[in-house]
Amino acid sequence: MRGDLLRSEDVPRHVAVIMDGNGRWAERRGLSRIAGHREGLESVRAVVRAAGDLGIQYLTLYAFSLENWSRPQAEVAELMRLLDHYLDVELEEVMRNDIEVRTIGRLDRLPAALRERVEAGVARTRGNRAMTLVFALSYGGRAEIVDAARRLMRDAELGKIDPERLDEKTFAAYLYDPSIPDPDLLIRTGAESRVSNFLLWQIAYSEIYMTEVMWPDFRSEDLQRAILDYQRRERRFGMTSEQVRTGDCAPRRGGGARRAGGTG
Ligand code: FPP
Repeated sequence: MRGDLLRSEDVPRHVAVIMDGNGRWAERRGLSRIAGHREGLESVRAVVRAAGDLGIQYLTLYAFSLENWSRPQAEVAELMRLLDHYLDVELEEVMRNDIEVRTIGRLDRLPAALRERVEAGVARTRGNRAMTLVFALSYGGRAEIVDAARRLMRDAELGKIDPERLDEKTFAAYLYDPSIPDPDLLIRTGAESRVSNFLLWQIAYSEIYMTEVMWPDFRSEDLQRAILDYQRRERRFGMTSEQVRTGDCAPRRGGGARRAGGTG
């Protein structure tokens, strides 16, 4: 990393990751896609450890999208098995490292036994404080907004909400886990430039870092490289550079405008 040093006081509070490229990584090596997912799990382990070491408070991983249900049955089954394996093998380390696990998504579509194990894992880690690890499972960004709208409409019918007074803050309270701050940094691996229906509401002001590195190759150094890139940017949240420089601006949820000098 050309000797650049991360500024530990300016590490993003919430990093979200679209883990892409498992299949291509495997195909390039003449392996099955499933082998790519297995190696991808090694990257999950490495990145969770590295995120904790760096002092990241929230790490959200896009482990399985709603669209992924349409993949071949054997691949879906293997992804479910890997999740089960992660809960089985990694939970002790997660507990040792004081990590709280949460999930977002339509978990009701998971096989019942796996869903119970996921919920038990989540319950066991509740109250851990060093870092929050969020798995987006059976997740879709539009589905999350629809699910929020459905619950909001029910509350409106019950008279708990006045449609005239609806604002962004009230709407956001109906998302899957409103206590999680918006991501400061969204990383996408696998040489694609899409957001793929991930956290559509929450990434409104996230910095986006895309890399050609395939997820199974993505390790601690790659995470540090992404954070260095983030630290070189200026987040303006729609304001001017001068406002950011002089601090003449209102802070926003999920972090505020900071740093000066960039043009982005
Ligand atoms: C995208 O690669 C990745 C996924 C669909 C799932 C991510 C899963 C893992 C990293 C392993 C299991 C993780 C947990 C948390 C248990 P792709 O298959 O779309 O790759 P491609 O674009 O090269 O085909």
